[in-house]
Amino acid sequence: MINKKAMLDIIPVPLLRLLRGIKGAYLRIIAGARSNADIFAEIYARNRWGGKPGEYYSGTGSDSERSGPYIAALATFIESNGIREVVDIGCGDFRVGAELLQATSIEKYIGIDVVGALIEHNRERFANERIKFECLDACRSELPAGELCILRQVLQHLSNSEIKVILQKVRANYRFVLITEHHPIRTADFKANRDLVHGASIRNKIQSGVFPQLPPFDFPDPEILVEVEAWNCPEEKIVTMLFRF
Ligand SMILES: C[S@@+](CC[C@H](N)C(=O)[O-])C[C@H]1O[C@@H](n2cnc3c(N)ncnc32)[C@H](O)[C@@H]1O
Repeated sequence: MINKKAMLDIIPVPLLRLLRGIKGAYLRIIAGARSNADIFAEIYARNRWGGKPGEYYSGTGSDSERSGPYIAALATFIESNGIREVVDIGCGDFRVGAELLQATSIEKYIGIDVVGALIEHNRERFANERIKFECLDACRSELPAGELCILRQVLQHLSNSEIKVILQKVRANYRFVLITEHHPIRTADFKANRDLVHGASIRNKIQSGVFPQLPPFDFPDPEILVEVEAWNCPEEKIVTMLFRF
């Protein structure tokens, strides 16, 4: 019987490229048609961002040794602007949210995530008078009121059309918006805001990243609140951008 490697060896390279292109496009269409709830629930269930089986783990970027400079900068910003109500869209496993609450005198925190089981898990462990969680898809639902909205490493996992919808909503709903994104090395191939199918991956693999102030988005120029080296590649940056409306 002919094995897979032998079969691939006899297919001409241009045909092989074409077949791979078709397979990639097919997989993108399938993934694009799935809901965010479905896609991100599977990412957690399969530990695609790490952690032990059965654990909800939002990735190494949320480990405290990595989020430290972000928490310090946000705490200073929150306290100096007297902010008391925060909405954290894509709160994930709440490790970052918990540290932020410890470092500030926020009176009302609402963590939102599209993964229902994760929100239940967070509610059971962390919810109280000060801390609430809601299961919402930020692309589809109305967002709760607050003064400051945080989007930390969320938009980078979404398509441009989904990002557009979320940006419109947060602009209309909040005085301050803080967006944290992974920005890649500026190689010759770099282009801001290349489109991506929603999922576990981010745009650095396609020499891109999310820049809300550039087309096809229409946010104003941001103030950079804090910028750190990416843990897996010091030339790449994790940038927290502040927008005031
Ligand atoms: C990489 S994690 C970041 C978690 C957290 N912000 C942090 O920095 O630790 C991205 C989170 O965004 C959530 N998410 C993705 N799309 C969403 C959407 N449309 N609405 C609400 N949450 C979403 C995912 O389920 C996931 O928990």
